[in-house]
Amino acid sequence: MGDVSSETTYKYERIADDIDHLIECGALQPGDRIPSVRRMSRAREVSISTVLQAYYLLEARGLIRARPRSGFYVRSDLPSNLPEPEISTPDPDPTQVSMRELVSMVVLKDATNPALIQLGAAHPNPALAATEKLNRTLTVVARRMGDESGLYDYAPGCEALRMQIARQSLTAGCSLSPEDIVITSGCSESVSFCLRAVCDRGDTVAIESPICFDTLQTLEALGLRALEIPTHPRDGISLEALRFAMQHNPVSACLVISNFNNPLGSCIPDPKKRALVSLLATQEIPLIENDIFGELYFGDARPSVAKAYDRQGLVMLCSSFSKTLAPGYRVGWVVPGQFLSTVRWLKYTSSLAAPTLSEHAIAEFMSSGSYAPYLRRTRRAYERRVTSMSRAVRRAFPEETKLTRPSGGFLLWVELPEAVDSLVLYERAQAAGIAITPGYLFSATDQYPNFIRLNAANWSDEAEAAIDRLGQIIRQLG
Ligand SMILES: Cc1ncc(COP(=O)(O)O)c(C=O)c1O
Repeated sequence: MGDVSSETTYKYERIADDIDHLIECGALQPGDRIPSVRRMSRAREVSISTVLQAYYLLEARGLIRARPRSGFYVRSDLPSNLPEPEISTPDPDPTQVSMRELVSMVVLKDATNPALIQLGAAHPNPALAATEKLNRTLTVVARRMGDESGLYDYAPGCEALRMQIARQSLTAGCSLSPEDIVITSGCSESVSFCLRAVCDRGDTVAIESPICFDTLQTLEALGLRALEIPTHPRDGISLEALRFAMQHNPVSACLVISNFNNPLGSCIPDPKKRALVSLLATQEIPLIENDIFGELYFGDARPSVAKAYDRQGLVMLCSSFSKTLAPGYRVGWVVPGQFLSTVRWLKYTSSLAAPTLSEHAIAEFMSSGSYAPYLRRTRRAYERRVTSMSRAVRRAFPEETKLTRPSGGFLLWVELPEAVDSLVLYERAQAAGIAITPGYLFSATDQYPNFIRLNAANWSDEAEAAIDRLGQIIRQLG
C-alpha cells in the first residue's frame, strides 16, 4: 500500500469495504447471508455490475462465498472474531506519575529507528500524509509572504488558520469563532497549557485508563497526580466511576481523548459527551478534551466533540494536525473557553509565537479545498489498514487474545494471555527487528502488563510478516 492517491474509492470498493467492516466488527457472522445483488443495487443506487464487482472483490479477499441460486454468504470457515477487552479496572486512588525512565527507554529510542518495523509509535503513515503537497503549498506561501514569513506570529496565531479551524469545527457540532482559538505548537502543548491554566502542583486530574503516555508524561512534568478512571473500549470513560471518584477526591480537572482514544480507540457517544459535560459542570470541574484523532472516523459522520455541549466555557478543546497532516509541522490549537486569556498568556510566555510558515501553509492547504478530499481518502486508507491488521492478529496470536474494534484512528489495543509480560515481549520483538509499545506505558499504576498497542498506519507485507513473527514470540512466552 503506497500513496494515498492509490487508495481509490470506486463505488464497488466502498461497498466491499462497508461489508468487510460489518464482517470485521461481527455485525455479519460466518454463515450469514449478505444482501442480494438486486437489493444492494437498489439501496446504493448503483448498477448490478457494480455490486457484483464488490462481491467478487469480497470473494477474492476470502470473506464471502457464492452459493448457487441462493446468493452470497459470509464464509463459515472464517476464524471467529476475538473478544474485546473488558472495561478497565484501575487503581481507585490518585497516584504520583513516574514514567520518565520507561518512556525514555522505550519510546525515544525506537520511534524513529529505521532498522525496526514500526508497529509501536502512534505516528501517521508519512506516505499517506499529504506532505509533498503541503510542502509545495509552503513554498508558494513563503514566496508570497516574503520577509513576513520569517517574523514572529504572536499568540493567538495566524488568523487565516483560526478561521479555517473555526469552519471545520462545524462538523464536530461546534460554532466557534477565530477569537476562541489559540494556535499552539501541537496538541501536547495545548494539553499542557490547559493543565497549567486550571491546576496547581500536587492537584489531582481524572483521566481515562488506559491513556497514552504523552498525557501521563505531561502530568508528571507538572507534578500532577493521576486518578485513573475505568474506561470501556467502545464508549470511553465510565460516568458512574467518574461520579464516584469526584465524590471521594478533590478533582481539579478531567482529561479525556473523546474520539478514538489512544490506545483504546474508544469513542464517547454524543449523548454521553453531553452527560460528561453536565456531570463535571456540577462541581465546576474543567474538562480538557483531546480530539487529535477526531477527523479520522470510519463511519459516515464525524463524531461531535464534548465542547459542542459546553454552556459554561468549562471545556478546553485541544487538537492538532499531527495525526491528519504532518506532525513535523508542529501546529496544534486549543479552544480554552473561559480560560482563554490565561492560555493565551501561557502560550506567549512559553514560546512567544506559533511556527509562522507552517501555520500559513496549512491555512492555505485548507482553504484551497484540498483538505476534505484528502481526509476522505485517508480515513478509508486507515480503515482498511486497521481491518487488515486485526485479521492478521486474529490469525497469528493465541486464541485467548482480546482485541479492540476501533471505529476510527489507526491504533489497536491488544490484551495478551496473562503469562505474557509486554516488556519481555517488547525486548524479544526488538531483537527480531520489530517495534511495539508495551502496555506499561499506558497507566501510572502498571495496570496493563500483558497488553500492547499496535499501530496499523504503516500496514504492508513486511508489517504482516512482523505480526506473524510476534505471534510466534507470544506463543513462546505464554
Ligand atoms: C492522544 C495524543 N495526544 C497528543 C499527541 C501529540 O500530539 P502533537 O504532536 O500534536 O503534540 C499524540 C501523539 O501521539 C497523541 O496520540
